[in-house]
Parts: sequence; structure tokens; C-alpha cells
Amino acid sequence: MSLRVTIVGVGMVGERIVSILRERSFPMEWPPRVCATRERVETLDGEEFHVAKTDENCFKDADIVFFAGREGAKGASIQWGAKAQASGAVCVDNGSDFRLNPKVPLVIPEVNPEAIRPQTRFIASPNCSTIQLAMVLHPLHKAARIHRVVVSTYQSVSGWGVRAHEELLSQMPQALKSLDNIPFDPMILARPIAFNYIPHIDKFTQNGCTKEEMKMVLETQKIMGDESIKISATTVRVPVLVGHGESINIQTENKLSPAQARQILSDSPGIAVLDEPNKGNPRHDPFERTYPDGLDIRKPQYRDMVLVGRIRKDPTIENGLNLWCVADNLRKGAALNVVQIGELLIKRGIIRP
Ligand SMILES: NC(=O)c1ccc[n+]([C@@H]2O[C@H](COP(=O)([O-])OP(=O)(O)OC[C@H]3O[C@@H](n4cnc5c(N)ncnc54)[C@H](OP(=O)(O)O)[C@@H]3O)[C@@H](O)[C@H]2O)c1
Repeated sequence: MSLRVTIVGVGMVGERIVSILRERSFPMEWPPRVCATRERVETLDGEEFHVAKTDENCFKDADIVFFAGREGAKGASIQWGAKAQASGAVCVDNGSDFRLNPKVPLVIPEVNPEAIRPQTRFIASPNCSTIQLAMVLHPLHKAARIHRVVVSTYQSVSGWGVRAHEELLSQMPQALKSLDNIPFDPMILARPIAFNYIPHIDKFTQNGCTKEEMKMVLETQKIMGDESIKISATTVRVPVLVGHGESINIQTENKLSPAQARQILSDSPGIAVLDEPNKGNPRHDPFERTYPDGLDIRKPQYRDMVLVGRIRKDPTIENGLNLWCVADNLRKGAALNVVQIGELLIKRGIIRP
């Protein structure tokens, strides 16, 4: 017997869930049931799907439901999460609505698989920028205890969903002619994004931080099970279609050299370190090293990894290190993480094919 899977939401993340389920041969009946706000036929990952309008029937007999809708009162998991559970399905949610609920485990399988208990029926997947940050911090924290983190992000437009992706593409022809008066929808991104960068992701909060910045702080502390780690985040949208970069500065309690950090991260699952002397570089720079950039996540060997480089000492603080990381926000930052959670549920016998 194989599992019955429902996917709610067929935007940027929903489509990636379809492809990753197929790529990883998730033990399921094919095709998965897919639903969204309205019924239609849609091509997802090259296959034609009947997309249902989401209602109770979408969850009938489902073993697992992946939510990839939008957040808020009219969002997918608030509207349908309890109903899906009542039908007997285990739910895995990409959205932020339940991430900080103390009863809901917030899980990155490589970091805190133990947060899933035998009785768990609803699991939240963290924010995309949080996932790649926590993947890097966790092994270093285990080795040397991190007490302070300063992180700045370079986040692609697909992190906001399909409409922001379209917004960048539609602004480009005009931006190539003139950067003045580029039309934009402030309900998607607050400013024009073509040839620009915007230090404003999600809404502002009372403390001057944006919600995206607070997600990085609070979700990381929850996943790492340590609220004493001080985290200061600045999140910035950049005109890139897919992939987030992060500049990370950490201060540890115990000494950790760049070489030790490279070794620890290289030995950690889901991480690839690209940080070695770049001999033969065309600039003849004797100190140049390799590092990951935003296009590296397109390479098959790296698309499911968090790539780390530029690991170096921060001489301005005691036990300080600087790092740079890159990941595909739609894959490890969302769809891959939820499918890995599904695989963990199978391994634990919480759902049985
Ligand atoms: N994009 C990322 O990098 C990323 C990373 C981590 C987490 N997430 C989270 O993942 C979720 C999906 O993101 P996305 O980027 O794929 O968004 P998206 O491209 O805007 O797609 C959203 C999908 O959800 C459907 N939907 C919205 N409200 C719904 C409802 N009440 N009931 C059923 N379906 C509903 C939409 O239906 P229609 O097609 O009918 O409009 C659409 O198919 C969001 O919660 C987001 O915060 C995204």
C-alpha cells in the first residue's frame, strides 16, 4: 500500500513539492491530490493536474497533507488545518501561522528531528531564511556554543511567491529603458524591485524590525531549543528570481577556528562547504578562495544543499567568525524540507505506507 497525499496550494512551493515527491520516490499513490482557491487544470512540473477548489473532500482518506497556501485568517492552514487533521491526516505546513505555537513542532529534519513525537499530527516548517541559517548555526552551536548572531539576508523575489516573481519579470523591460516611475504593486513588494534592493520583507513591527526579521530570531531560537542565543537580523529583498544569500557573523563561547568551522560544517548533513584556495583563478589573486554564489544552487549536486563559504575570523570580537551561505528558498527553504519531514514521519512509523 502507498500513502495518499494532498497538497494545498500550487504556487511556487506547491509545484516544487510535486516535483520533489517524484524525484525522491516518496512512497505514495500518484498523482497526489492538489487543491487551491479555485478549480482548474494546471501543468505542474510538466504534468497536467486537475486542481480542485479546496474543500473537505480534498482531505478524505489523505494520510498526509502538505500546506503550501498563503497565511492569515483566509489562508490555507488556518481554514483547513483542523479539518485535515479531523479527517485523520498528518499535516505539514509551510506557512508561518503556527510556527511559534508551543504545541506545534517547528522542524528541520537535519537539526531537530526529535521535536516530532509519536502523537504529533501537525508540524510547521520554518521560514526559508531561517532554515538555511539554522542549518549552519546548529552544528557550530553544538561544537562551541553560539551566544550572538548578526545576520543580513539577500532574499530572492520567489520567497514572496509567484506574484513577486512575476512582478520582477514584468518590471525588467521598463527598467532597462529607465529606472524612473517603474510601475509596481505595493501590496506585493513595497518598492520597485528591478535593479533595486529593499530592506523591507513582510510588515514592520512595533520594535522597528520587520516580521521577517523577527521570524529569523524567534524561529531560530525555537528550533535550536535555546532562547539565550542573541540574534540580530536585517532582511533585504534583492532582484534575484530564486535563492537566498546570508551574511552571518557569530560569536561563540569557546574558541572555534575557521578551519574547525569548515570541518564541522563539511561533516554536517545537508551542507556543502565551498571554501578553499582558488588556485589558477584568472585574476592571479594569490589569496583568492572558492565560495558559493546564487547560481550554484542550480547545479544538480548543490540544489538540495545549504552552501557555505567565506568562513573567516572576525578580528573585532573575541571568538568571532564570519560566514556566507546560499540555499534554494523553494527547495531546502520550503518544499524539500516538508518532504523530508514526510520521510521522517514514515521512518518514525507515524504514517505508514
Ligand atoms: N516561496 C518561498 O520561498 C517560501 C519559503 C518558505 C515558506 N513559504 C510559505 O509557503 C507558502 C506558499 O508559498 P508560495 O511562495 O508557494 O506562494 P504562492 O506562489 O503565492 O502560492 C500560493 C498558493 O496557495 C493557494 N492558496 C492561497 N490561499 C489558499 C486557501 N485559503 N486555500 C487553498 N489554497 C490557497 C493559491 O491558490 P491559487 O493558485 O488558486 O491562487 C496558490 O496556489 C506560504 O505560506 C509561504 O509563506 C514560502
